[in-house]
Amino acid sequence: MHLGLIGYGNITRTLIDVLARENAALTRLTVLVRPGREAATHQALAGHSAPVQVVSDGAALVAASPDLVVECAGHSAVQADVTACLRAGIETVIVSIGALADEALHEQVLAAARDGRTRVVLPAGAIGGVDLLSALRPSGITEVTYTSRKPPLAWRGTPAETLLDLPSLTDATVFFSGNARDAALQYPKNANVAATLALAGIGFEGTQVQMIADPQVTQNIHEYSVRAGATDYTMRIQGNPSPDNPKTSVATVYSAAREVLNRLREVAI
Ligand SMILES: NC(=O)c1ccc[n+]([C@@H]2O[C@H](COP(=O)([O-])OP(=O)(O)OC[C@H]3O[C@@H](n4cnc5c(N)ncnc54)[C@H](O)[C@@H]3O)[C@@H](O)[C@H]2O)c1
Repeated sequence: MHLGLIGYGNITRTLIDVLARENAALTRLTVLVRPGREAATHQALAGHSAPVQVVSDGAALVAASPDLVVECAGHSAVQADVTACLRAGIETVIVSIGALADEALHEQVLAAARDGRTRVVLPAGAIGGVDLLSALRPSGITEVTYTSRKPPLAWRGTPAETLLDLPSLTDATVFFSGNARDAALQYPKNANVAATLALAGIGFEGTQVQMIADPQVTQNIHEYSVRAGATDYTMRIQGNPSPDNPKTSVATVYSAAREVLNRLREVAI
């Protein structure tokens, strides 16, 4: 497989290592980075077993014609580069799912996939059970409630900082309660799980979200409950944070790797 990657940050670096450990049969790698990052990225990937091309222009990624693209960059990359890949007929995995809380961008992505006669793939990311949630939709889902509980400092750089004194917090404190649309728009760096649940289940307005800063925990804890015609269930995922980015649960990397490996192996599961 010729794999295209958008972004060379925390997730991409670990993803490349996981794919190498799993002996993924990659024949070529094309990585899209921000302008000015080409040489450093090329150097970092010097020992890779497949030929590597590093580009800083979305058109060059499309021209390289990878079999599959995985976006691990952010909102701006979804807007510009993911839509270009989809329009060119390249199947594309979006990891920055929170970007799709922007209704206009969501519609652009769907239109690009339609134009390119391909599909956009939304991986489970930091959580699990998305297969069940999505499968239950035709049975009628009446409720999806999600709680995101992280150590106080994992909320640094978000509006939680203005609501709470994060470093001195001694008790678990709920600082956001609302629907997934508001959660994703107000907390874009932490929006991915809420957006994933909304898109798999009953949408951004119907999905209820709570965010908690909890000094008693060291992991990123995602809990959600679903009530549906066919099944009710509750999930609790205690994700280890990535060493390089505490906002990102490292499980996300494995979820992205699964999307690649499922396309390379005899069994997709
Ligand atoms: N789906 C999930 O459950 C989930 C979980 C965690 C993180 N994420 C998302 O995955 C994305 C990557 O996370 P990370 O921890 O690797 O972040 P990171 O900041 O470590 O890496 C992102 C990299 O992408 C680069 N980048 C940004 N915009 C770009 C663009 N337009 N073109 C090329 N490169 C660009 C940045 O310079 C950076 O190097 C983020 O959007 C994050 O919100 C999703």
